[in-house]
This record gives sequence, C-alpha cells and structure tokens, in this order.
Amino acid sequence: MAPPTVLITQHALAARIREMAAELRAALPNDDIHFVCVLKGAFMFLSDLVRAFDDRVTMDFIAVSSYGESTKTSGEVRLVKDVDTGLEGRHVVIIEDIVDTGLTLHYLQDILRRRGPASLHTACLLSKPSRRKVDVRVDFIGFTIDDHFVVGYGLDYAEQFRNLPYVGIMAS
Ligand code: IMP
Ligand code: MG
Repeated sequence: MAPPTVLITQHALAARIREMAAELRAALPNDDIHFVCVLKGAFMFLSDLVRAFDDRVTMDFIAVSSYGESTKTSGEVRLVKDVDTGLEGRHVVIIEDIVDTGLTLHYLQDILRRRGPASLHTACLLSKPSRRKVDVRVDFIGFTIDDHFVVGYGLDYAEQFRNLPYVGIMAS
C-alpha cells in the first residue's frame, strides 16, 4: 500500500495545537480543566495538547465505536469504554480527532451533558463540514478539511497508520 499523501505536516499540527491550547485557556473559566479524550483516534492530539498546559489539568478516556473496518460510518454509535470518574461540577472538554457526520459527537455530548458538568466544551483536531448529518456544536476546531478520508496522527484505516506524525490522505 502506498504511503498516505501529506495533508497537514507535523510542524503545522504542532503550531496549531499550541494555538488551540491558548484559545482553550482564554475561553474557559480560570479553573481546572478536565479533558475527556475519545479513544482511540484522539490520543496523539490529547497528548500534545495537554503538554501545552502548565497546570490544573486532569484527563480521562472514553471509547465509542461507530465504524467497522471501513471508511463509511454505520450510523450507529456504541459506548465501548466509559470514563472512570464523575463529571459533576467539572469543566469538561471533549477531545476528539475528527468530526465527520457528527453522529459520534452528538451522542457523546448528549451522554456527558447528563452527568452535570459545570461546563461542556468540545475540541476537535479536524472537521469535515461537507459530510455533516447532524447539527453539532464544536467549540474549537484545529483544521477544516475537504471530504478526504484521512489517516495519521491518531487516525486510522483498519487500525493502521495511527502512528504517523502527520495527517495524510489515503492513496486510493
Ligand atoms: P462521525 O460520527 O461520522 O462524525 O465520525 C466520527 C468518527 O469517525 C471519528 O471519531 C473517527 O474515528 C472516524 N472518522 C471519520 N472520518 C475519518 C477519517 O477521515 N479518517 C479516519 N477516521 C475517520
Ligand atoms: Mg474517533
């Protein structure tokens, strides 16, 4: 299989993620931030983002599945792993790799909001607005991209390519 074509370089990712950390700090109350990272795709984004904060940050992990081993969504979202600690009264930020149809994020925002966080925001590294099926609010977006299936920097195709340090377009 040919290597993916670079869409967003390692350098551009690092620069934008530093900016996003500053945007988050400025927009959120001057208080502890609790990140909820959506596994597996957002693990690299989370790990770079949190390193741009100096203190008062905690994190937890949640996993949902909406895709089989294909590039098309099944339209069905299932909770695979819940967070380990309660969200009540906390300033929660969902950390997601990409918002495509919006179904995953819509589901996650819905279940997490019911747990009574003091605030609930969402940060997505990537957004493909042309594919949206449900209207979902994303407070912080790293990059808006065209309708390509992308891999790397956490994102996979059939569990491959998550380790690439850049975001690339799959060779077809
Ligand atoms: P949505 O529910 O359609 O918004 O899809 C969100 C999830 O689908 C993301 O969290 C990704 O795991 C996956 N996904 C959507 N588009 C891509 C892509 O281009 N590459 C890899 N995974 C994707
Ligand atoms: Mg994902």
